Amino acid sequence: MKQQIEKLTASCIRQIKAASTRKVLTDIKVGVLGKSGELTALLRNLKDLPCEQRPEAGKLVNEAREKLEAAFAEKFEVLHKEEVAAKLASERIDITIDRPYHDVGCLHPLNKVKNEIVDFFVSLGFIVTDSPEIETDYYNFEALNTPADHPARDVQDTFYINDHILLRSQTSTGQIRTMEKVKPPIKMISPGRVYRADDLDATHSPMFHQIEGLVVDKHITMCDLKGILDMFAKHFFDEKCKTRFRPSYFPFTEPSVEVDVSCNHCHGSGCRVCKGTGWIEILGAGMVNRNVLTNCGINPDEYTGFAFGMGLERITNIIYKTDMRAIFENDIRFLKQFK
Ligand code: DAH
Repeated sequence: MKQQIEKLTASCIRQIKAASTRKVLTDIKVGVLGKSGELTALLRNLKDLPCEQRPEAGKLVNEAREKLEAAFAEKFEVLHKEEVAAKLASERIDITIDRPYHDVGCLHPLNKVKNEIVDFFVSLGFIVTDSPEIETDYYNFEALNTPADHPARDVQDTFYINDHILLRSQTSTGQIRTMEKVKPPIKMISPGRVYRADDLDATHSPMFHQIEGLVVDKHITMCDLKGILDMFAKHFFDEKCKTRFRPSYFPFTEPSVEVDVSCNHCHGSGCRVCKGTGWIEILGAGMVNRNVLTNCGINPDEYTGFAFGMGLERITNIIYKTDMRAIFENDIRFLKQFK
């Protein structure tokens, strides 16, 4: 009996040591200590022994059971720790791993172009001013030499809020607001939103952006205007870009011009973009009308100035070869191209 118990215990300890999972260990335990386990069977067989041997044999079986139970418990603990460690290792997330960022946003093409235009003029010493989008009739028209009966008022279909308050239809309002506050010399640009009662199509939108420019000082001439706009065109389109000044009319400038740049698609030979002319119109400009200077308390006999106003969408469309709808639809596939 003693030998039998020792043999069983030794073989069981070997199996416990070799067990690699808690499942295997449980099976071994059931096989030895379970209801029909080998050691349980020995215990049951005690009754077949002669009476005087039973206490000794019973003691041996119980010692063996205690020893094995301790060995099982110890091994359970070891296997449990190993399994938890393996699970943690397999589920580990390396938060230090170096991977490219996804979905980093980018500037809208309009903002990109606006920033570049602003940077260009700031590098020439211009200040940047802001002015209200909700304006009075005075700043949008009257002060800009466009009285109520002026035919130019029909050209711009303005959103009126009441008889005197409107959504500005041009950033030229910024000229008046600046000249009221700042004494010459003045060199400013004023970017912002403007509103006109137009439907959205490839070239129109009820809301769009303009950048206004104004220079007022002694001895400012049309040559200064031409020089700066020519530099601007070369900076923006390409070194070989040419500008063309066509006589035009705006109430707030005299003389007035419309400025074209040579087409950056066909370089002057004529294409669909420039409608076969080789030229693309980019802005309106001129020498500040004497009446406008007077309205702002600046003596037109002492000071002269030039002004210009450009459509930001127009420039953006020329640079990126897009159109008004693409710019305002905000289709993510379109916007992602500008990363
Ligand atoms: N405000 C004009 C428009 O919206 C553009 C413009 C033309 C602005 C001539 C100027 C200028 O400053 O001198 O059509």
